[in-house]
Amino acid sequence: MSEAQVDQRRKDGTLRHLLTLEHLSRAEIERLLNKAQSFVRPLGAPPPTSNTLAGVTVANLFTEPSTRTRVSFELAAKRLGADVVNLEVQLSSRVKGESMLDTVYTLQSLHVDVMVIRDAEAGVPALVAGNVAPHVSVLSAGEAHVSHPTQGLLDALTVRQHKKRFEGLAIAIVGDIRHSRVARSSFHAFRTLGVADLRIVAPAVLMPEEPEFEGCSRHTSLAAGLKDVDVVMMLRIQKERMGQADLPDADRYFVQYGLTPERLSLARPDAIVMHPQPMNRGIEIASDVADGRQSVIRDQVRNGVAVRMAVLADVIGSRSSAT
Ligand code: CP
Repeated sequence: MSEAQVDQRRKDGTLRHLLTLEHLSRAEIERLLNKAQSFVRPLGAPPPTSNTLAGVTVANLFTEPSTRTRVSFELAAKRLGADVVNLEVQLSSRVKGESMLDTVYTLQSLHVDVMVIRDAEAGVPALVAGNVAPHVSVLSAGEAHVSHPTQGLLDALTVRQHKKRFEGLAIAIVGDIRHSRVARSSFHAFRTLGVADLRIVAPAVLMPEEPEFEGCSRHTSLAAGLKDVDVVMMLRIQKERMGQADLPDADRYFVQYGLTPERLSLARPDAIVMHPQPMNRGIEIASDVADGRQSVIRDQVRNGVAVRMAVLADVIGSRSSAT
C-alpha cells in the first residue's frame, strides 16, 4: 500500500496523520514550523511543558533502531502531558508471529490515540493509518527509504533559524541519496518552502532514479555540488538497505565524498553543515567538520523535540472538532 492511498487529512482539512511531507502545502509546513519554534528553548533553560495532550496516550512502535527519533517523540509527548508507551518489539508478541495490524488493534483497545511507527518495510505506516479507528492518528518516524517527515521538518526549521529564509538559498544534499528517507523528506520540505537551487550529490550508484528529486541538479562531483552553497546536508551510507556487493569501500568513499574542511571551503563562508545522524565519522564527514563552527548538527537534534511536540499538538488539537 502506498502513502498516496491514505489521506493524511480529515474531511475538514485538518491534519490527522503525518506519513509524508510530499502533499503538504507551504502553509501547512509553515504552521508546523512556527508551532515548533514556539517550543524551542536554549540548552540549560527548562523545556516548555503543558497539558495539551492530557488524557492522550502515545505509543512508539519502532521495529528499526533509533536514538534521536524515539527519544524525542517520547519527550515531546511527555512534555505535552500525554501517557507514553514504548513497545519493545523484540519483547512483544510480534516475535511469536503476531502481525503488525493485530499489534495495532491491541494497542487501540488499550486506548492508544497516537501510533508513532518506524519500520524498514515501505507502506507500513499507511497500512496502519488505513486500518485504525477514526480518532487514532499515525505518525511516521521513518519508513524504509521512503520518508521521514518529522526529520524533514526539523531540517527545515534548522535552516530557517540560521538563514532566516528559503528563497535564494542553495542547498546540497550529499551522500547516499538513493536509500535515504531523510533526503526525500527534506527535499519535499525545501522544495515546498521555495528553495530554488537544490542539488543532490552522490556517486552514480547512490543516485536515485529520475524522476525522483525533480527539479534538483544532479552532481557526481562533490566539488561542483558544493560550489557556493548556503547549506550542506551530509547523509549516512545506509548499509542496512544495500547488498554487500553494493557497499562502497569506506576509505575510497571518504576520499571522494567525505566532507573535509578543505571541501567545505568551496561552499559559502557562512554555509552551515547538517547531518541527520547517526554519523559515520571518517566516512561521510570528518570530525573537525562535524564538531566545527559551521556545524548545526546538535541544533537539529534539539529541534527534533520541538517539531515532534508541534506535530503531536497539531494532530490531537484538531481532532476534537472533527471526530
Ligand atoms: N535522524 C534519525 O532518524 O536518527 P535516529 O535513527 O537515531 O532516530
